[in-house]
Amino acid sequence: MTWLGGEVALVTGGGSGIGRAVVDRYVAEGARVVVTDIDSERLDEVRDIHGDTVATIVADVRSYDDCVAAVDLAVDRFGKLDVLVANAGLGDRFAELVDLEPSAIDTAFRQVFDINVKGVIVSVKAALAQLVRTHGSVVVTLSNSSFYPDGGGVIYVASKHAALGVVRQLAHELAPTVRVNGVSPGATETGFTSPSGIGAAGKGPRNPPGVDPNDRAAAVRATTPLDMFAQPSDHTGAYVLAGSRVQSSAMTGSVIETDGGLGVRGLRRVRGGDDLGSRLFD
Ligand SMILES: NC(=O)c1ccc[n+]([C@@H]2O[C@H](COP(=O)([O-])OP(=O)(O)OC[C@H]3O[C@@H](n4cnc5c(N)ncnc54)[C@H](O)[C@@H]3O)[C@@H](O)[C@H]2O)c1
Repeated sequence: MTWLGGEVALVTGGGSGIGRAVVDRYVAEGARVVVTDIDSERLDEVRDIHGDTVATIVADVRSYDDCVAAVDLAVDRFGKLDVLVANAGLGDRFAELVDLEPSAIDTAFRQVFDINVKGVIVSVKAALAQLVRTHGSVVVTLSNSSFYPDGGGVIYVASKHAALGVVRQLAHELAPTVRVNGVSPGATETGFTSPSGIGAAGKGPRNPPGVDPNDRAAAVRATTPLDMFAQPSDHTGAYVLAGSRVQSSAMTGSVIETDGGLGVRGLRRVRGGDDLGSRLFD
């Protein structure tokens, strides 16, 4: 049994990373998918793998006209649009305020907020009429940075908090016809990029004491209750659930946190169960 059989989805930034994993999983769950990205080579690869089950288009989430063209493609090729996955995003190299050049703030703020916040609003606006027709839904890629500090710098964290606000406001505005939910991944192994405008200010995450400064995986595992550095595919079940009109029909304005348990990090220890085996069986 598949959860998205007969559905048509549109995934923004679906050429790599988490978006790409969502495309692969949505196809496996029976959906036909329009995939957008600003990188045409990544789109070629998606088409090579999935053939006519997908349709691809170079489209920038900052452009309303591009987003309309992507929605039109869904309707022309597959007849409708049921699920919009607003996923494209940009980081900020973990740039802390103390290190940011005043002259860099304007450009970096605009680049990050234009994609992470305005891009979601523009994508939903472009898809709205089709989603109302199908009583469809929106799934927005949020982040641990929608809830907690230090998963990015001040600009990225602010942008992902703002994107959570977009989810909540649009869930209210579009109810009862269109559901709007979020998925918030934790640190994930992707090629996530940041604007060049930030220059050298963002030096990347600072690892906890005792962890090799060059070993990002070890740092993430050390601070994550489930002791993991996620792969993009680890999150895709959450996107399937949020996008499934049958399995999540009562859900709107919700966020599925798929971050390895950041909300249950302890005050004394990151996780309490490292020695469960020895306490039970030795
Ligand atoms: N990687 C992580 O640790 C992590 C953690 C939490 C949340 N996220 C979020 O996941 C989402 C995807 O990031 P990722 O890690 O998969 O990175 P990624 O760079 O692998 O994927 C992002 C894709 O979006 C595309 N893109 C960039 N700007 C675009 C634009 N203006 N219009 C259309 N497409 C554009 C890129 O070309 C790329 O293919 C982002 O919203 C990010 O904030 C990532």
